[in-house]
Amino acid sequence: MKIFRLLALMMALLLTVAACGSDDAGSDRAEDDVDDGGAIEQSEDDDTESNGAVSSSREKLEIFSWWTGAGEEDGLIALIELFQEQHPDIAVENAAVAGGAGTNAKAVLASRMQGNDPPATFQVHGGAELNESWVAADKMEPLNDLFEEQGWMDKFPQELIDMVSMGGDIYSVPVNIHRSNVLWYNIHVFEEHGLEPPTTFDEFFEVADALLDAGVTPLALGDREPWAATHLFETVLLGVLGPEQYEQLWTQELSFNDDQVVEAVEIFKRMLGYINSDHSSRNWQDASQLVANGEAAMNVMGDWAKGYFVNDLSLEVNGDFGYVATPGTEGMFMVVTDTFGLPKGVDNTDDVKKFLSVLGSVEGQDAFNVLKGSIPARVDADVSKYDEYGVDTINDFQEAELAASLAHGSAASEGYLTRVNQEMNIFVTQQEVQNFIDAIEAAAGDL
Ligand code: BGC
Repeated sequence: MKIFRLLALMMALLLTVAACGSDDAGSDRAEDDVDDGGAIEQSEDDDTESNGAVSSSREKLEIFSWWTGAGEEDGLIALIELFQEQHPDIAVENAAVAGGAGTNAKAVLASRMQGNDPPATFQVHGGAELNESWVAADKMEPLNDLFEEQGWMDKFPQELIDMVSMGGDIYSVPVNIHRSNVLWYNIHVFEEHGLEPPTTFDEFFEVADALLDAGVTPLALGDREPWAATHLFETVLLGVLGPEQYEQLWTQELSFNDDQVVEAVEIFKRMLGYINSDHSSRNWQDASQLVANGEAAMNVMGDWAKGYFVNDLSLEVNGDFGYVATPGTEGMFMVVTDTFGLPKGVDNTDDVKKFLSVLGSVEGQDAFNVLKGSIPARVDADVSKYDEYGVDTINDFQEAELAASLAHGSAASEGYLTRVNQEMNIFVTQQEVQNFIDAIEAAAGDL
């Protein structure tokens, strides 16, 4: 039943997105096929049959994601190029739908899955987003054979294999591990004001007050898409609760009414007193840009922000910007893993498996992750290819206590996340702590 409610919710969201006509709405599916150089030309129109119905038979290898534009698409393009070098005979269609954290792409995907028109392969977070949305609805093919054949069983950390498995079968291939509990800061601004990056909430507020006195916006936020506020909030939750109790929220062993959750919401509310006033008109890239140009000093974002800082803004890791774990989360690692699987009902199954094989190879992971800002999901990737941030993060991942992200689909069902994002939108404006707590507790039935 949850699945049907989720699909209905996604459809409603999709209609809203279409109605809003936002400039990055789901309608602007990337048209830029990456099939130059020897690939077989396909008819552009062969998806639509004479009766207007959309056929699920697509000869092009359609790769569906939300990696478009600044800081997002470089890794994907590199991966597709590598794939095309190895398989010049397979035409690829980059079917990316703009919108951070899959804001629009997930709605488009839900409507296509419901209409039995799946893309050949699609980006999906390991954990609940994969398992509860698609595997439980019997929409995915198991990939155990591919994992065996490629010798991958000991090449991915067991925690990641668990995140992409259900009922003993494996359903997708992780391409990366992003860390989401990262506080980025502008080194020049910190040096100019004699500040150290904060590691606790107390330090955060001390530093934030000093920055405010100096006329610098302490914390950048871009919550035009509400997930960015949920993202900040979940790092506060982790910082207050620690990994074990944070995990208990998703298993319903700990209630959202718990005093510590209330404390986390209070801290989060206090943080909102230090953000840029135009936060609701910015997306995550725009907010990161404030930190890059020194208008703001810090932001909390996953390490896709590093891809943006380095690839798009040519900033230097540990020269222009630095990074620490978000307050209270040192030694903890909020995991976001992007994965790709094989939906049921796809015609070009062999081509999809070839793509997944490249994506899961050492070469594929290193081509992608060096640019994406994430670390390789494989344990045997070539560490020498990564910058200082990448090497630190690869080491941290091995030592840290892991936690699953809510904002990025792993910790809880898509239905619950959608409710939290809606309530978050209201909270950021009204800042009524008890109302927010009541609302996210009331939604817990969707967990
Ligand atoms: C994805 C990242 C992506 C980020 C911003 C996350 O949900 O896992 O790959 O860069 O959203 O769009």
